[in-house]
Amino acid sequence: MQISLVVNDKLENLDIEPRTLLVDLLREKLGLTGTHVGCDTSQCGACTVHMNSQAIKSCTVLAAQAADQKITTIEGVASQDGSLHPIQESFRRNHGLQCGFCTPGMIMTSLRILEKYKEKKVDEETIRHELEGNFCRCTGYQSIVDSILDCLKNSDEKI
Ligand code: FES
Ligand code: FES
Repeated sequence: MQISLVVNDKLENLDIEPRTLLVDLLREKLGLTGTHVGCDTSQCGACTVHMNSQAIKSCTVLAAQAADQKITTIEGVASQDGSLHPIQESFRRNHGLQCGFCTPGMIMTSLRILEKYKEKKVDEETIRHELEGNFCRCTGYQSIVDSILDCLKNSDEKI
């Protein structure tokens, strides 16, 4: 089947099998390998991308369901000139990654957390709750949570 979708602001017209998962389309057809596959049980969140303004697990969505939608992957988060998004800078500043495998999914989920809490007071427990769908197998959660809180604290930065 033929589908069209916008990925990282670029219109893509693709010929796919109806059973193709969105994560496979991103990685194998478009070469966007920043989106990872970390499980086959829809639990780990390594495959998290944005569909329109929602964070979704791209291993649980058929590519056909993304037809005519707007997808953003980790490759679309930094500015075109290569400067990092404030949440990426914050992960770097706070050592919010160890092996880095979960990091793209963590960043995509963090962006939605920032959007949700940027005008509000938020505590560590709430951030941990919001991250429940993303696993870090290195157990680097403290630094990840610190990265998000630090970014929120500096939310006069463009987030
Ligand atoms: S690969 Fe999608 S949740 Fe693990
Ligand atoms: S940094 Fe290693 S899995 Fe998260």
